[in-house]
Amino acid sequence: MKEKITKAVNFLKKGKLVAFPTETVYGLGADAENGKAISNLYNKKNRPLFNPLICHFENIETVKKQVVFSKNAKILAENFWPGPLTIILKKRKNSSIHPLVSSGLKTIACRVPSNKIALSILKQFKGILAAPSANKSSKLSPTQKNHVIKNFGKDIFVIDGGSTTFGIESTVIDLSNNKPTILRAGAIDKKIIKQLFPDLVEKSKNLKKIKSPGQLKKHYSPNIPIRINVKKLRNDEVLLNFGKNRLKSKVKELNLSKSSNLEEAAKNLFKFLHILDNKKYKGIAVAPIVKKGLGIAINDRLERAAFSE
Ligand code: TXA
Ligand code: MG
Repeated sequence: MKEKITKAVNFLKKGKLVAFPTETVYGLGADAENGKAISNLYNKKNRPLFNPLICHFENIETVKKQVVFSKNAKILAENFWPGPLTIILKKRKNSSIHPLVSSGLKTIACRVPSNKIALSILKQFKGILAAPSANKSSKLSPTQKNHVIKNFGKDIFVIDGGSTTFGIESTVIDLSNNKPTILRAGAIDKKIIKQLFPDLVEKSKNLKKIKSPGQLKKHYSPNIPIRINVKKLRNDEVLLNFGKNRLKSKVKELNLSKSSNLEEAAKNLFKFLHILDNKKYKGIAVAPIVKKGLGIAINDRLERAAFSE
């Protein structure tokens, strides 16, 4: 592993892209201070330039050099870093992060990951890594190495860290305005954040109304049709089930969690969608999943996967 990390760091220093595991999903990393590397990252992902990237830091000290670290930021960092929380903060005037990283915005999305491989890379790289999820824009997120290869082939170096712990992306919270605002439901239950900030604002759940960057309506989408909150299956559909119920598929069934455990379901979500997203099947039917705790983030991903204009 040591040699692989050194190889990854050498690539990154040369401005190349490297995919690596985090505790949420695999990230496609590039040197956040190198404009060419960042531009290449947007290209490789087919990501629109208006959708800003998350920066990954080794520790809080390196974050503080780039952004204005408010009192609220300190509270969140102390409670959740290293870990699956992304905090949007105001960029410092003397920040060395390339403007393309945040699509010209005056803010930076910051996160200190807890995955050991991700931290080792950051430590040895001694820089900042812009790393969106390692999938093509609008496609399913990667939670294991072969998902990354499915998206990019062999021309990107991927460090294998097995299946990711959470299986779902970080929770994104915006602290750049007066009131802390949740921009994306994710691996950390917003209820826990609400205990710290009772005035926490939640962004509109109405997918049709969402206009801000990154909240693209069609996202996380498989290549075959997908229906959610299904009560009855169509003849030729495969089933992504949850808990115990009467749903049945004549073709194939995978159950996110037979015991209705939402952590287990989040961990399995993209893994199972990758398996079912196969052209030999006609469509994916997804059982209803409770909209509580992690179920909120799971439903958010599924609604975007199934969204059509
Ligand atoms: O768990 C995760 O967050 C993973 C791992 C690899 O860290 N990364 C990830 O990145 O999910 P990505 O690019 O797929 O999602 C980043 C989200 C997008 O919704 C983007 O619009 C938002 O963060 N974002 C980034 N910078 C922002 C900013 N300055 N203001 C508002 N939203 C921002
Ligand atoms: Mg993504």
